[in-house]
Amino acid sequence: MSSNTLDRALVLDAVRVTEAAAIASWTMLGRGDEMAADQAAVDAMRNALNELDIDGEIVIGEGERDEAPMLYIGEKVGTGKGPRIDIALDPLEGTTLAAKSQPNALTVMAWAPKGTLLNAPDTYMDKIACGPGLPAGVIDLDRSPAENIQAVANAKGVAASEITVCVLDRPRHAEIIAGVRAAGARIHLITDGDVAGVINTTDPSTGIDLYLGSGGAPEGVLAWLFRNADERARAVRWGVTELDKKYDLHEIVRDEAIFAATGVTRGGLLDGVVYRDGCVHTHTLVMNSSTGTVREVRMKRKV
Ligand code: FBP
Repeated sequence: MSSNTLDRALVLDAVRVTEAAAIASWTMLGRGDEMAADQAAVDAMRNALNELDIDGEIVIGEGERDEAPMLYIGEKVGTGKGPRIDIALDPLEGTTLAAKSQPNALTVMAWAPKGTLLNAPDTYMDKIACGPGLPAGVIDLDRSPAENIQAVANAKGVAASEITVCVLDRPRHAEIIAGVRAAGARIHLITDGDVAGVINTTDPSTGIDLYLGSGGAPEGVLAWLFRNADERARAVRWGVTELDKKYDLHEIVRDEAIFAATGVTRGGLLDGVVYRDGCVHTHTLVMNSSTGTVREVRMKRKV
C-alpha cells in the first residue's frame, strides 16, 4: 500500500511548518481578533511551506481561490523541486479559542502523496471517532448515540455510564446530547475545536472515549452532511458525487500520510506555545503512517 513517496525527512519538515504557524498565531493570542490570529498563522505556514523542496498542492485549505488569498485550494506551495504531495491544512484550528486564549487551539497539517487525499469541500460533515484498539466497525454513524456508546462500553468492558463522549456545544447537537444523557454516559462539551476533540479519543489520559457531532468537513472525517443546495453544488464541482457517503479513514487518506499538529494554547494532548527565559517553546504531535510512528516533539529556541 505504501508508495514511500514521503521521505522520512519530511516528518521534521512538517513539524517546522506547524511550529511556525503556532508561534505566529501565539502573538495574537487573547487579543479578541480571530482574523488577525488566523492571518498570522496563514502567513507563517505559507512562508514555511514555500521554503521546502516539495511540489505541494493544497487540497484542503483556507477555502476556494476566490475567497482565500492564501493557502487556497489548488494553490501550489514549495520550491517545486521535491516530491509531489497533497496538503490538507488548517493554519489555526480554533480561531475563537486563540482569540479568547482558551484551551485546544492548534495548527494542523497533513501530507500525502499526490492524488491520495480526499478533496473535502468547505461544508459540514457528521463525525464519529473512537480511539484505537477497538474492533473494526464498533462505531457507526448510522447508529444512535446510545447504540454507539453501548458498543464502545462493551468493547472496553465497562458500563455505559463510564463512557465519556466529546460533543461540540451547538444547538444542532441537542438531540445527540439528549441521546448521550439518556444512555447514562458523561458528556465533555467543547466550545470549538473538533480536531482536538477527535484526537483526544486516541489518548486514554484525556478520558474521552468517543467523539460525536457535525463540524467543518475540512477539519473532519467520516460522512457528509450537506446543509443546503449551495453546498451540494460546490461539492459536485469538487468532484464529490456520493453526497451521503460514509467515509472511513482509509478512504479519506488512501496512502501513507504525515500528520502534524502544534499546540497554540494548552489542551488535552498538547501544551501551548510558551515564552520563557528568552526562549520560545512549542509542543508538536507528528505521525507518519508509513512507519506507524507517533512522535511528540518539543522545540526550544532563543528569541
Ligand atoms: P475555526 O478554527 O475555523 O474557527 O473552526 C473551529 C471549529 O470549532 C471547528 O473545530 C469545527 O469543525 C467548526 O468550527 C464547527 O463549526 P461551527 O462553529 O459552525 O459549529
